[in-house]
Amino acid sequence: MSILFSNRIKDLKPYVPGRPIDDVKKEYNLEHVIKMASNENPLGCSPKAKEAIEKTLDKFNYYPDGNATALKEAIAEKFGLKIEQIQPSSGSDEMIDSISKTFLDKGDEVILADITFPRYMSTTKLMGATPVIVPLKDFTYDLEGMKKAVTDKTRLIWLCNPNNPTGTMFNEDILVSFLESIPQNIIVVYDEAYNEFVTRDDYPYNSYKFLDKYPNLIILRTFSKIYGLAALRVGYAFASKEILENIDKVRGPFNVNTLAQVAALAALEDDEFLEKSYILNKEGKEFIYNNFKDLGLWYLPSETNHIFFDTGRDANKVFIELQKRGVIIRPMFDTYARVSIGTMEENRIFIEKLKEILT
Ligand SMILES: Cc1ncc(COP(=O)(O)O)c(C=O)c1O
Repeated sequence: MSILFSNRIKDLKPYVPGRPIDDVKKEYNLEHVIKMASNENPLGCSPKAKEAIEKTLDKFNYYPDGNATALKEAIAEKFGLKIEQIQPSSGSDEMIDSISKTFLDKGDEVILADITFPRYMSTTKLMGATPVIVPLKDFTYDLEGMKKAVTDKTRLIWLCNPNNPTGTMFNEDILVSFLESIPQNIIVVYDEAYNEFVTRDDYPYNSYKFLDKYPNLIILRTFSKIYGLAALRVGYAFASKEILENIDKVRGPFNVNTLAQVAALAALEDDEFLEKSYILNKEGKEFIYNNFKDLGLWYLPSETNHIFFDTGRDANKVFIELQKRGVIIRPMFDTYARVSIGTMEENRIFIEKLKEILT
């Protein structure tokens, strides 16, 4: 007798994360390996977060605060929102999963882009909903196309701005006109995991100001990127009280662990660390752009902490050759790859090894 699995997972594939440093060290017998594959902060995290964690080391016997009250209060205060408009999660990953569980039933249509964060697709399929794919246009979200894809079966739309992996963005006017055009019984999830890296003036920096006008809006943020707390798994959503009360029904009871809560709270207040990370990222992008130009490689100017580029050959082969030389990047598809910005030293090593392979 064979074991039966849910039909919903038949088409799903496990998420493929960036390769861990230790795996690559072991496989190629290398002493030094750098990882530029998962859009992490190469500076680590705020020293204030580390201090907060140290103070918590003797509290592991207690369950976390399931309500993450102090963290919610601090986020509310920082952005001038009500506590009931905030819900921390175990990374945005968990929130993406919870949103799909909260809103989707079999047969519902969900609109999403083709080249974007893959968890939108997998959680949609997991719920038995029907993905409606609107391809990017010039590697950027096609919101006009998404509007046209709405039917009376549409329940949810996933937006990622700026987008992973392309690093491209759409501006505030485009976002507002999109929100205006979408019936308010359709949930619009607006994932701004990389918002803190954006440099363009026309980006919707304070998208949370739209929450009152568009009660169907859910905004996602994370402490995994510029805050450098990816290992602790903590993110948060902004949404209406009604939406969050319903998401609360599917949320794990202690979804954000104690270390994550105290570290995120401390990190939130460290503007100096954020500024340092932002500048390093901006300079790193310029350095890599200039070298891509010298190498004659096509790339997309990025509003995130990663660059999408064309290796001009099988990206998987370039990925393997770089690994042999101690650099982990992310092959995307065909000849395209994504590299996360590292420290200046890491950026230099990446370029040096890439030149070795390509020239
Ligand atoms: C666009 C986007 N959303 C969400 C996530 C998940 O982030 P977290 O670490 O908070 O789960 C990522 C991670 O790479 C991402 O790129």
